[in-house]
Amino acid sequence: MQTELTRLLGCRVPVVQTAMGWVAEPPLVAATTRAGGFGFLAGASIPPGEVDAQITQVENTCDGKFGVNFHMFQPNADEIIAAILAHADRIRAVSYGRGPDAATIGRFKDAGILCMPTVGALKHAVKAVELGADIITVQGGEGGGHTGSVPTSLLLPQVLDAVDVPVVAAGGFHDGRGLAAALAWGAQGIAMGTRFLLTTDSPVARDTLETYLKTGDPSVIRVTKAVDGLPQRFIENAEVRRLEGMTGVKRFVASIRHGLAYGRANAMSYADMASLAWRAARSDDSSFAATVMAPNLPTLVVKGLVEGDTKEGLLPSGQVAALIGELQSCEALISGIEADALARISAMTSLTHNKEAAHG
Ligand SMILES: Cc1cc2nc3c(=O)[nH]c(=O)nc-3n(C[C@H](O)[C@H](O)[C@H](O)COP(=O)(O)O)c2cc1C
Repeated sequence: MQTELTRLLGCRVPVVQTAMGWVAEPPLVAATTRAGGFGFLAGASIPPGEVDAQITQVENTCDGKFGVNFHMFQPNADEIIAAILAHADRIRAVSYGRGPDAATIGRFKDAGILCMPTVGALKHAVKAVELGADIITVQGGEGGGHTGSVPTSLLLPQVLDAVDVPVVAAGGFHDGRGLAAALAWGAQGIAMGTRFLLTTDSPVARDTLETYLKTGDPSVIRVTKAVDGLPQRFIENAEVRRLEGMTGVKRFVASIRHGLAYGRANAMSYADMASLAWRAARSDDSSFAATVMAPNLPTLVVKGLVEGDTKEGLLPSGQVAALIGELQSCEALISGIEADALARISAMTSLTHNKEAAHG
């Protein structure tokens, strides 16, 4: 299944495993890459001092090229940028949301690394291309993690019409029908987070993944701004409801507490913490509230995903989890998607042929 995406990324199948904090760790990235997809290592959740070791672990456990995700407001942004450039022979692409400036993007491009940001709104897609993006991943609102309000079925054609770089469709994909549909729209492939979270190669404990598999209703996997001030999708649980019920003052106190814990865990001084908060607050898409609340996210997601506390921790998820009933290996998932997509495409092609035959 060759598309512009497989040619650019050097993978066999146009299926991308997106970055997910504390999930897209070296074993998942390597399993995706061995199976013929393209995996992104979640760099934003790698603690300071461990970036190089994690990149090397991926390199040592698969043969293909892979990607690394990061954001400019993580404490070790400089460390991760330097490590990516040092491993440019194996790292084919970087992904980011709140992204680097044009100069940093230029450094990646000079090293032969493709810049592949994820966007959730048309204006962000246009801006990302102006800043130098080589490929755009378009994430519709049904997707997991931070997410916009426009569904994939509307955002994807909007962006396809507006930009002239290859586009990858994300948000709600999990099977071969979705890949065939994305290709029919004009995208060059699909990117999936939640479906890769729900694989046997995922580092998350089986008991925790069971909570995802048991969620059969997409409407309970919903967006809230109560965690870090930005819209983000989680499986609704007691913690989401508690955060939403908090007064502004209580939320502020909790954020400061989580901020101090986050700073300590990342070996940051008070000056480092203040400087990071200042840079984040000045970025064009961040409010004061979002900056203050940002540390809530890692603390509560670690509690849910890593410590397995599915009631008092948070479970980030795309709505597509409601359609997924079992774990699969990356190998079975990617080869199944490839075979199903080819079958759908061939069924559509025969529809056209039948019509031609009918018209004589
Ligand atoms: C558990 C989980 C954690 C995520 N963590 C991150 C992250 O750390 N950084 C990021 O850019 N996106 C993150 N995302 C968003 C995904 O990379 C991806 O864009 C999204 O899941 C795609 O939608 P889908 O879940 O419908 O496939 C996360 C998503 C999930 C489900």
